[in-house]
Amino acid sequence: MNKTVVSSWNDFDPLKHVIVGRADFTCIPPSELATEAKVPEDSDMRGMWGPRPQHTVELANEKLAGLVNLLEQRDIRVDRPEPIQWNQEVITPDFTTGSMFGCMPPRDVLLTVGKEILSAPMSFRCRYWEYLAYHGLMQRYFDEDPGFRWEQAPRPRLTDAAYQNGYFDEITIAERLKRTAALDFVTTEHEPLFDAADVLRIGKDLFCQHGLTTNRRGMQWLQRHYPDHRVHAVNFPGDPYPIHIDATFVPLRPGLIMNNPNRRLPDAQRRIFKANDWEVIDAAQPAHDTPPPLCYSSVWLSMNVLILDHKTVVAEASEVHQLEQLDKLGFEVLPLAFRDAYPFGGGLHCATGDVLREGSCEDYFPNQVAGTQI
Ligand code: ALA
Repeated sequence: MNKTVVSSWNDFDPLKHVIVGRADFTCIPPSELATEAKVPEDSDMRGMWGPRPQHTVELANEKLAGLVNLLEQRDIRVDRPEPIQWNQEVITPDFTTGSMFGCMPPRDVLLTVGKEILSAPMSFRCRYWEYLAYHGLMQRYFDEDPGFRWEQAPRPRLTDAAYQNGYFDEITIAERLKRTAALDFVTTEHEPLFDAADVLRIGKDLFCQHGLTTNRRGMQWLQRHYPDHRVHAVNFPGDPYPIHIDATFVPLRPGLIMNNPNRRLPDAQRRIFKANDWEVIDAAQPAHDTPPPLCYSSVWLSMNVLILDHKTVVAEASEVHQLEQLDKLGFEVLPLAFRDAYPFGGGLHCATGDVLREGSCEDYFPNQVAGTQI
């Protein structure tokens, strides 16, 4: 096998090497201040915690194996994390919580920017140690690629000061929407916080979703950490649970991005796309009215696609409207059954983490406009 080369600047250049998560030992973590704000009032997950039923773990792992198979058949190298027994308490000097989460979605934790893979701080206490599942891979990349930068964002303390207490207690969806549109989120500005999946990489520009898991201080940290990049704050009114950008704002190829029609990017933040001739289109409607049982995510995982190159995309097999839209846009669409994996941490994009894509750091937005940059 060839030695590892780490490099990826966006979500659409030809994919050569990727990490695909595993469902083993995944838990529904007990409620904590951050997850209280995320789990909908009427969710079947309310009040539940502990290891997920074994037969659902097996189904999810089957679907993940299907993804591995599809990628390997296209000569894309796939690595897998090492699951930890996630059903263990997290104990730090600042907090304890009853269990961890899992390692199905590497995208949430690992941010690949060029030759660097950065483990994000993570804002859920239950996800504090999740990066350890990738430690063996990072060590190997470090040994094999002399240019690889193995990085870790500042570990947060996640004391009670990191969260607004009682945020969203027993409130209606309308009130949630008001608060999220007003940039009032459960995470405070006490310390830098971000999840990797809130960061959309488009070459020299990084678009960060300000939401329940990422704060302004996190974005400021990213801007200082990547001084050659431009870090932008974006937000999407219309999402009552804004966590992770990849079911909301998804680039398909240079110049084309799809936006969740229920969570539109505000006009002032759209200007940078217009000024650089990027087309922002509405994503197709999801094919399902509800997510599968015990799922954190919304039905909009329909748009959580994995792009293999500028012409090829993997999308969930039952998402007929999304498949049709991608087909009409001229993509070769590879449908893959993946819904059974959704409850373990998301869709096809969430379940993967970039190691190598061809291409270099392009400046897709040479015409900068005021309004978004940190
Ligand atoms: N938080 C994203 C959604 O559920 C993944 O839409």
